[in-house]
Amino acid sequence: MSEWSQTRPLNGFPHPVAPGRLWGVGVGPGDPELVTVKAYRILKECPVIAYPKKRSGSKSYALEIAELYVDPSEKTMLGLIFPMTKNQDELMAMWQQTADQVWEPLSKGQDVAFVTEGDPMLYSTFIHLARILNEQHPGVEIQSIPGISSITAAASRFGVALADGDETVAIVPACDDPNLLRKVLVQYDSVVFIKVAKVMNQLLDVLAELNLTSQAMVATKLTSGEEQIWRHVEELRGSELNYLSLMVVRK
Ligand SMILES: C[S@@+](CC[C@H](N)C(=O)[O-])C[C@H]1O[C@@H](n2cnc3c(N)ncnc32)[C@H](O)[C@@H]1O
Repeated sequence: MSEWSQTRPLNGFPHPVAPGRLWGVGVGPGDPELVTVKAYRILKECPVIAYPKKRSGSKSYALEIAELYVDPSEKTMLGLIFPMTKNQDELMAMWQQTADQVWEPLSKGQDVAFVTEGDPMLYSTFIHLARILNEQHPGVEIQSIPGISSITAAASRFGVALADGDETVAIVPACDDPNLLRKVLVQYDSVVFIKVAKVMNQLLDVLAELNLTSQAMVATKLTSGEEQIWRHVEELRGSELNYLSLMVVRK
């Protein structure tokens, strides 16, 4: 368990104003009705709503889901840019910048709700943000509100149980190493591949090799108004998929 998951007493905190709380608010996979009652309450109560986006001017999927419950005229809206890069220097600079942006209202005692698609503790930008804030401002109380993950949403939308009894499930992010793909597909009863858009052809090759193509399903923007589902996944070879796409293979 990471340290920041504990509620911290503010006794002896040297800051003249007690800092606000940071909430990681999971807003689910797309359908606003899948936002939890607790997430709804925190969104209503927090004066500052922070949301991730890829670049200035681009839309935030998490904010689109939460929009129904947030009146921007009553809130401070804080768009945080998380560019899609693997460059470590760029990433470090970007994390620091976003942590500083979030610290600003927190330092004035304002609570901040950072919305994330799905669950905040599963492959989410919130994880990094919370770690940096905890390191640099250990007096800030940080809490996560679990959301319905795209992984469990997929099981419901495909009508396929991910696991039952003693069965095992693996979650594998953006992998194009055929050996690793083969290994998980052989070892687990169900495999959920996330961030599949850029590695779809490699995945399709390994599925064909293991004779599992007919047991795979792909979906984009699950449960949202733009949801798409493919049960014949070979159709996707060579096509451009949205980043918010995943594959479930159920043996
Ligand atoms: C950074 S991870 C975020 C996972 C998220 N925290 C969750 O609990 O679902 C992003 C990946 O999750 C998957 N994903 C997230 N939301 C999705 C959705 N609504 N429909 C399909 N896949 C989704 C996609 O594979 C996407 O590339």
